[in-house]
Amino acid sequence: MIHVDQLTKHYGPVKAVDGISFDVGRGEIVGVLGPNGAGKSTTLRILTSYLSASSGTATVAGYDVMTQADGVRRNIGYLPQAVPIYPEMRVDEYLVYRAKLKGVDRAARRSRIDYCLERCRCKEVRRRLVGTLSNGYRQRVGLADALIHDPPILILDEPTAGLDPLQIRETLATIRELADNHTVLLSTHILSEVEAVCRRVIIISRGRIGLDKPLAELGSDAVVVEVEIRGPAQAVSDALARVDGVHAVTRVSDDQGIVGLEITAKSGQDLRESVFRAVAGQPAWSLQRLDQRRRKLEDHFVDVVVRGEK
Ligand SMILES: Nc1ncnc2c1ncn2[C@@H]1O[C@H](COP(=O)(O)OP(=O)(O)OP(=O)(O)O)[C@@H](O)[C@H]1O
Ligand SMILES: [Mg+2]
Repeated sequence: MIHVDQLTKHYGPVKAVDGISFDVGRGEIVGVLGPNGAGKSTTLRILTSYLSASSGTATVAGYDVMTQADGVRRNIGYLPQAVPIYPEMRVDEYLVYRAKLKGVDRAARRSRIDYCLERCRCKEVRRRLVGTLSNGYRQRVGLADALIHDPPILILDEPTAGLDPLQIRETLATIRELADNHTVLLSTHILSEVEAVCRRVIIISRGRIGLDKPLAELGSDAVVVEVEIRGPAQAVSDALARVDGVHAVTRVSDDQGIVGLEITAKSGQDLRESVFRAVAGQPAWSLQRLDQRRRKLEDHFVDVVVRGEK
């Protein structure tokens, strides 16, 4: 449904997007994750034909984003990061206006608006002026607007930004429902949101893709052993780095003689016993804690972002 090939965007000397390529298939729900300024909004705006790329190509539902903007816009519902507001319009007037603009058949307009208000949980504000809505409701109306012409693809730029925790939960629930019969590409810098609704994550840092994987495949590729040991930090780290099967040792804390380390294994193997033995072999050291966990999305995010900054 979405095909992106070597997309690049310069703003003067700033390379906001730097050779991005990915595909999104029908029915997929993909999260674009990245820190502030990573290039998420720029990428999404190019895909919605609101911004032209400096180079590269992209098609959405088979339409070229550079030359076939009408076809692109018929097939996508776009929720921009800053939802445009027409403060003096009532919510249903605004949606009528948007529905006309998007070519929704006159006969179908009323029922379509009712459906979208219901779906986006904003029926109760239909007579309110857009300018008086709270952030959360403005976002919901923005989502209703995105849905109004019944597009197969939804492109949502930070759909939960500025919402309170309860509203975030509701919005994520709505998006999950919508994902049953839409292809969804959403951006966020909140890891737990990706984990809550997406099946695949694309991590962007400094305009480049650092990782593109199904969530189910993350976490199974490496194990991390977390330990806290009373002992001399450097000697402990060095000794554990020499243990068979250890890929890397990272010092995460050093507090009152107790050093906290994260140890990653070379090939998903279980290091707990060998780490325990290495520590137990040193009478002057004592093991305070030993845990094993799978790598989390957060580890991947930090990896990609730190790598991007080097
Ligand atoms: N209109 C513009 N003119 C100049 N530079 C811009 C413009 N829009 C974005 N940029 C720059 O391009 C880079 C990418 O911005 P973009 O908005 O795509 O990032 P983002 O990942 O959406 O960030 P955020 O999480 O803060 O929304 C940033 O360095 C930003 O300052
Ligand atoms: Mg953005």
